[in-house]
Amino acid sequence: MNKSDQETKDEIVLQNWLAQLNLEQKVGLIVGRGMDIPGLLETEDEIRVAGQAASTLEIPELGIPSIILADGPAGLRIAPKRVGTDATFYCTAFPVATLLASTWDKELVKEIGAVYGKEAKEYGVDIVLAPGMNIHRNPLAGRNFEYYSEDPYLSGHIAAAMVKGIQAQGVGTSIKHFVANNSETNRSMLDTVVSERALREIYLRGFEIAVKEAQPRTVMSAYNKINGTYASESYYLLENILRLDWGFKGAVMTDWFGGKDPIAQMIAGNDWLMPGEPKLRKQLIEAVESGALQEEILDQNVERILRVIISSPSYHKYPYSNQPDLKQHALVARKAAAEGAILLKNEKGTLPLSNSKMRIAAFGVGSYDFIAGGTGSGDVNKAYTISLVEGLNNASIAIDTDLQESYESYITNEKAKLPEKAFFFELPPPIPEMTLDLIAIQAIAAKNDIALLTIGRNSGEFQDRQVEDDFNLRTAELALIQSVSEVFRGLGKRVVVLLNIGNVIELMSWRDCADAILLPWQGGQEAGNALTDVLIGKVNPSGKLPTSFPQRYADVPSAKSFPGKVIPDGETHELGGVMTSHEMEITFDEDIWVGYRHYLSKAIPTAYPFGFGLSYTSFSYQDLIVDSDQKEGGLKVNVTIQNTGDKAGKEVVQLYIAAPLGGKLEKPLRELKAFAKTKLLQPQESETLTFLLQDMDLASFDTQQPAWIIEGGQYSIQICASSQDVRLEKKLMEEAKVVERVPKALTQKM
Ligand code: GLC
Repeated sequence: MNKSDQETKDEIVLQNWLAQLNLEQKVGLIVGRGMDIPGLLETEDEIRVAGQAASTLEIPELGIPSIILADGPAGLRIAPKRVGTDATFYCTAFPVATLLASTWDKELVKEIGAVYGKEAKEYGVDIVLAPGMNIHRNPLAGRNFEYYSEDPYLSGHIAAAMVKGIQAQGVGTSIKHFVANNSETNRSMLDTVVSERALREIYLRGFEIAVKEAQPRTVMSAYNKINGTYASESYYLLENILRLDWGFKGAVMTDWFGGKDPIAQMIAGNDWLMPGEPKLRKQLIEAVESGALQEEILDQNVERILRVIISSPSYHKYPYSNQPDLKQHALVARKAAAEGAILLKNEKGTLPLSNSKMRIAAFGVGSYDFIAGGTGSGDVNKAYTISLVEGLNNASIAIDTDLQESYESYITNEKAKLPEKAFFFELPPPIPEMTLDLIAIQAIAAKNDIALLTIGRNSGEFQDRQVEDDFNLRTAELALIQSVSEVFRGLGKRVVVLLNIGNVIELMSWRDCADAILLPWQGGQEAGNALTDVLIGKVNPSGKLPTSFPQRYADVPSAKSFPGKVIPDGETHELGGVMTSHEMEITFDEDIWVGYRHYLSKAIPTAYPFGFGLSYTSFSYQDLIVDSDQKEGGLKVNVTIQNTGDKAGKEVVQLYIAAPLGGKLEKPLRELKAFAKTKLLQPQESETLTFLLQDMDLASFDTQQPAWIIEGGQYSIQICASSQDVRLEKKLMEEAKVVERVPKALTQKM
């Protein structure tokens, strides 16, 4: 049967379902069947996929299957073992979202999405609760590793690539958390106060791109309020903006136990209540029976839910095997982890390691206890994580085994002291750095050729990070870097620092101690192998920063407002530990000045800027051509990139637009509006890249109208190697223009 015949058949089936469903069945579909998580609300039905985040009601008499929803952004999170079988159900831990964005490679991210989608399908999952795509507003946000970038354009296009990859396998996605959920502290009782322009240009823009580019099957509304209204209860957000303005056709679900008033959620167009609780069904039925809620509203919610169900593998009775090709998926994870590694510093050709016979001393707990990804619902139950030293050994590169033994026994002893996890998702405390005195380091330096030193950082859902001992290095870490640098450099030997982190940290206090700095982020289960591929030059690093590294935390524009203020005498929701929430408010008083928009426009130097990344080779940028007479309107931009070095490599090329300053709307110095990555260019090889710009790419949001407008004046199209490195530019005059009017602003109460 061809696609359109199938769609016609499905439509008939769906309308038939709608005609026959009674009120109890409609409400049964709207409210999830619970979550399979130890110690939390048990699911009401038999569990089909252990560890599932939720399931939906089966109505066998109508042929409506139950469908399965499971986390998360870095791979499928389900239980690795099940009662009654020796089979295992490990999943591939892909690189975290921030690393995927660091590749700036839409095709590669789509490939990750494809294998992720295959894996979910083979495990019987219908919707994966991914990608996470909230903006990196502040480096301390606990879930930044689950999100892509500080820039909405990069975030939106990487998310769209992930959605396309996953959904091409027939599995649905849920872009999250919609919207302005950029911190963890008191998230379910937090009111985000934010201007309409900042919402539209920064916090909504990435979601808008993902919806228009990829039509995700679902959207997950955020826990927080926006200007006083819960996201899951905001008609303007979910109907006016998401559906009317952007043309979203799928279903909206709450975040888990999110929001407060199920009737308001139904009216707002938040179709699904996840993971679902029996009391919600009772509330909705009573509301319809009392006239407080019209059943026609529920019919709309149910129709959107049924459209998701009828497109699911479960509806099409896909015979899933529970045996995805994990070996093949691991290879793709390793390729992506290498592609997203960012070379921040490389003095005197320290990297790649000159020969495989080099004697390597691996310092830092992080070199042995490698972090694949963050904690919380964004974690993955993987079969293994390859550490740096395991990756080096797999590549037959010898490391100092005496030093290895010291670290490994130290780590074992320290781990034995850790308390039991208080709850499922708890972030374990970091293992303190092992101290080595100068004498010991001198002995190690005498018998090795180079020092590799790993700094690790972990974070996760339910809590934000701290400045001291987290964003800033711990005393013992700083001391180790300084001592190793002093001793090894004293012998004319080099020091490489590796950052196995999921969020931005402070670098200025120690980066002069390193001859090279490589940022592999949290690279998933194959992290150590991928990192080794880059260290030995098997892969030439081509990653670039998707988020700025400020010189100090105080330079961050949201430093003062983060993570918000508890409201005196506000409500408290006692759930114990980090789960307890107090009513809180956070004001995004930096408005649109987030990340590089702030640092560039206010001329605040960063440690490393957005879009920055080095290579083992070099590239020239030439022949910029801007062609404005396109029949479909817009601008066509061509630029030629040549590999001018002696190693094959790829270059990420960024197109920024600098709008005229001094107009009605204040503008950042430049904003990212297009990007592309070259293929692997051999030495001297060139490639011409083409970018297409539309009016929307030159527009800013005028709240007063409200509309997207182009202000008249001189614009500059800038072809850059980073947000601070303009290689070519062309100026052009633009007439003032209203590009698109939008529904009334979100800042107005419902
Ligand atoms: C959470 C998270 C969300 C996740 C869901 C299911 O609280 O905010 O990202 O998908 O619950 O685990």
